[in-house]
Amino acid sequence: MRKVFTFATLILCIESSLVASSDMSKFLRPIEVPYPQNNVPTLERVELGKLLFFDVRLSKNNDISCATCHNPKAGWQDSMPLAVGDEGAIGSRNTPGILNAAYQHHQFWDGRVKTLEEQALGPIQSNVEMNLSLDEALSRLNSIQGYVELFDKAYPNEGITKDTLAKALASFERTIISSDAPFDKYIKGDKNSITPEALEGWKIFSSDKGKCLNCHDGFNYTDGSFHNIGLNTDDTGRFNVKERDAWFGTFKTPTLRDVTKTAPYFHNGSIYDLFSATDVCAKGGENHNVRNYSTAMHKLNLTKKEIEFLVEFMKALESPDIDIKIPTVFPQ
Ligand code: HEC
Ligand code: HEC
Repeated sequence: MRKVFTFATLILCIESSLVASSDMSKFLRPIEVPYPQNNVPTLERVELGKLLFFDVRLSKNNDISCATCHNPKAGWQDSMPLAVGDEGAIGSRNTPGILNAAYQHHQFWDGRVKTLEEQALGPIQSNVEMNLSLDEALSRLNSIQGYVELFDKAYPNEGITKDTLAKALASFERTIISSDAPFDKYIKGDKNSITPEALEGWKIFSSDKGKCLNCHDGFNYTDGSFHNIGLNTDDTGRFNVKERDAWFGTFKTPTLRDVTKTAPYFHNGSIYDLFSATDVCAKGGENHNVRNYSTAMHKLNLTKKEIEFLVEFMKALESPDIDIKIPTVFPQ
């Protein structure tokens, strides 16, 4: 069971009066952030999770934190084609921005885990990321008196365990959420908040001309589902999770919120700019003959100008960076 919680007291959360017409309201992020019943967010948990998120001591060589790859100043990603982890090890996928990940029903490009709690311990242990065994991570944290006290405040009498570590990180991640982008303001009634070009882009995006809503639907501009859009790749995507034919070469539809900040694009980081990524999508991918190619993809024959309008629309999905104070002093 998932519950909801208003984060207004914890984070910068713009609550404007909603004047949205009902059919457009699905594009507005619900103010309540979902959370699991056994990890009710509190200020202590969020603050602890924030310290852990930025603490390099959770990596083998004390040089990588979650924020190394999920940089708040770069749309919570690393601007690299593929993630670079411990001792320069190169991973096999592009780092996603984690804005609004709290709302996702599946994490990772292939959706191999569901919750933020399940996700959080993966990168610490991964040999191409932070490369620290869980035992070592927990014994390091337990040897830091400051953390012992903070965990006890956040999770009284539970100690520093893999569960409380994951829960604290997840609690912080539930505060990494979007504020109003120009298009949100437009939906709420401020008709001057987006450019005429962006409006043209929205018309293409949302109509049969662009068919982007086939997959990039709802307030995160994703259906939360998995598709094979016809990229040239050896990665079999969700098929790795379970060998179902329908999952071959499929990847999670990424959010388009803040997509202006998260180049390069696609699960393999193969496309460097937003115009080109949009162009690839509008052409129905790079290769229409791949196994399990999505029936929702189409070669659209859009003009360069129309692709530019789509890009302008996506620019209107960019919200201001979260006003976060990056920790410089860590528990000792
Ligand atoms: C070395 C770079 C790197 C580090 C360090 C790292 N991540 Fe990631 N993160 C990635 C990559 C790459 C993916 C996508 C992997 C995949 O889909 O297979 C990812 C995916 C995620 C996702 C899923 C997002 C989505 O939309 O599916 C979350 C949440 C996340 N990371 C949180 C964290 C947390 C919390 C930490 C620290 C404990 C962390 N990451 C450390 C590179 C990194
Ligand atoms: C069949 C579903 C589908 C349709 C239709 C679709 N997309 Fe996508 N889109 C995806 C998936 C899935 C990905 C990620 C693919 C991957 O990396 O393997 C993606 C990736 C993207 C990206 C890169 C985002 C990132 O963070 O890497 C952009 C930009 C994009 N789509 C825009 C569009 C636009 C604009 C349209 C309409 C012209 C469109 N898409 C139509 C499913 C779709």
